[in-house]
Amino acid sequence: MPGIGRFFDILLKLRNQVDYPLRQALHLGRSGLRFTNESKQDLYSHLPPARRRAAEKTERRLRQQYHLEALYQHSTADNYRENLYYLDLLEKALQAAGDPLPSPLAAADIGPSHWFYVQALWAALCWWDAPQERQVDLTGYEVDAYRLYADFRSRLEHARAHLEGLPGSKVRCLPQGFSRQPGRFDFIAMLFPFVFLHDHLVWGLPQGLFDPFSLLQDAWDSLKPGGVLLIINQGQEEHEAQARMLSRLESGPGAALVQTAFQHHSDLYHYDIPRFVLVCRHG
Ligand SMILES: C[S@@+](CC[C@H](N)C(=O)[O-])C[C@H]1O[C@@H](n2cnc3c(N)ncnc32)[C@H](O)[C@@H]1O
Repeated sequence: MPGIGRFFDILLKLRNQVDYPLRQALHLGRSGLRFTNESKQDLYSHLPPARRRAAEKTERRLRQQYHLEALYQHSTADNYRENLYYLDLLEKALQAAGDPLPSPLAAADIGPSHWFYVQALWAALCWWDAPQERQVDLTGYEVDAYRLYADFRSRLEHARAHLEGLPGSKVRCLPQGFSRQPGRFDFIAMLFPFVFLHDHLVWGLPQGLFDPFSLLQDAWDSLKPGGVLLIINQGQEEHEAQARMLSRLESGPGAALVQTAFQHHSDLYHYDIPRFVLVCRHG
């Protein structure tokens, strides 16, 4: 019913216009969050036997190849599984991108939310196709870092807890929107950027901050020649809209090159809505 949908969006716009600036000004929330470790014995016991064995085998390979021991010993089972899913996806995307990643590598993640997957992202950038650890510098830019969660802790506080164990001088979450930084990054991730206004409003952002094409162009312009832009979307409709947006990029001589597009299937974590991946390389 489009009438009700439109009315709902109007209410969201009014709410977000008031409470987004308030949380940006007040920075409420408790600090000192730490996660309690949970057993990883039954990560995939919900799967039928053959798929369970395959998922457990992949888990062991990823843990060894990407040095996930610390995460394995200091995470909830659900968060560990979700990191495995992201890592598996990142691995396939990087393989599809083809060329090796440079070292040192400057990377950005636009819109990390509470960065529950930062361990996977960090591990992929440091260890994908790298016999020796790659030198990585990673910055997350989150425009709504002061949103409060049910435990009265901010999104930023949750992100900091997920960063536990990673080198603070090389990986950080900045509580600010992403801005154009010409030619600075070798790798930029946009994992579930808002493509449709309704999702942006449901997540609590003011309408004035919705400009997905400008954000995409800023990300593209911030890549070095040869740099990789990785985008993940949920659902076919969003994926197709994102691909159309990419084809409109003003990319000059380094034309926006979608190197690969695929739907990611995995038993490592279950999502109701299918995930689609786009990998682009700056010319
Ligand atoms: C759908 S969430 C995706 C969260 C996360 N990347 C994931 O994989 O689940 C989109 C995030 O982007 C953030 N965001 C939206 N516009 C942004 C901008 N211009 N700069 C930085 N973050 C932004 C939102 O606040 C939100 O946390």
